[in-house]
Amino acid sequence: MSDTNYDTDKYVEVMQLTKRYGETLAVDNLSFSVAKGEIFGFLGPNGAGKSTTLNILSTLLDYNNGHVKVAGYDLAHEAKQIKEMIGLVPQDIAIYDILTAYENVAFFASLYGLRGKELKEKTLAALEFVGLKEQQKMRAAKMSGGMKRRLNIACGIAHEPKLIVMDEPTVGVDAQSRELIMNSIRTLKERGATIIYTSHYMPEVQEICDRIAIIDKGRLAAIGTKEELLAIVTDVKTVTIAISQSSAQNQEQTLSDRITHATNKLKDMPDVKNVIFNPENHTLDIDVDIRHSDITLILSVLMAENLSILDVQSESANLETTFLALTGRELR
Ligand SMILES: Nc1ncnc2c1ncn2[C@@H]1O[C@H](COP(=O)(O)OP(=O)(O)OP(=O)(O)O)[C@@H](O)[C@H]1O
Ligand SMILES: [Mg+2]
Repeated sequence: MSDTNYDTDKYVEVMQLTKRYGETLAVDNLSFSVAKGEIFGFLGPNGAGKSTTLNILSTLLDYNNGHVKVAGYDLAHEAKQIKEMIGLVPQDIAIYDILTAYENVAFFASLYGLRGKELKEKTLAALEFVGLKEQQKMRAAKMSGGMKRRLNIACGIAHEPKLIVMDEPTVGVDAQSRELIMNSIRTLKERGATIIYTSHYMPEVQEICDRIAIIDKGRLAAIGTKEELLAIVTDVKTVTIAISQSSAQNQEQTLSDRITHATNKLKDMPDVKNVIFNPENHTLDIDVDIRHSDITLILSVLMAENLSILDVQSESANLETTFLALTGRELR
């Protein structure tokens, strides 16, 4: 096989993968594929089997059953070719405390065969990429947790791998470092890399991943784009509208009549599933179809009844709710 002879939608192909640690079934008949050039999110609660799957893919761990292919290479007998094209950023920070930032990156890059001028250039480029060029002479032992995370990333990407596997690269980093890491990942994608990205931090996954696989107990619970995953669970969202209690004097109908009238009109709209008026806080809770709800139509019904709108709030579904619905568990 060559690394050009494959379907680009199946750049990474995991087929019926199974991995046991003694009695523990960590990965259970798991299948998914990753397209070339995408950022693929891997999401699941603690112990779901994410790291196990990624470590198998990265050739670090054996498996019991199934097939894994990367760029057409078969892990069973072409692990060497796969290893050469992958950069793993492991969940447990793998750097040497006694080495400086530069020495750490250069060490890992040298494992991939980089030497001399090329090694020096790529080491410095990787340090610059994660914002640690100034600190290249600092020993890892003296670094903060966030700096170590960034150094861990530099060690995994210095050799410019085509496939980058990042296992929780942002755990314990501050907002600024997180932003830097997010931007770096986007840049890696722009340069043509394919990225598999694991995180517990839902907004990150929603923000950067082209497609997401949700795994639970070693099995695939769902896979798709963010929108596809959201559609699985929530096809209705609630819009809450606060209505002014001060009624204009020249109205013929009372305020409550007008609210009743508007409620009935709203209920007749095709995308409105339910309307509830809460007299306590004077709000209308309107359940609408998430796919084609047009909020301006709802507002125009209220305005036609001369109701003054004080506030509009729309609860939007997110991956956290999707996840909870699919697995019955919160992410953390
Ligand atoms: N070396 C090991 N020996 C025995 N069991 C293991 C080993 N590594 C992982 N496991 C078990 O395999 C299952 C999957 O673990 P894994 O680390 O792959 O999950 P994960 O999805 O990465 O979790 P986390 O979100 O906590 O990182 C868990 O039940 C875990 O206890
Ligand atoms: Mg893990």
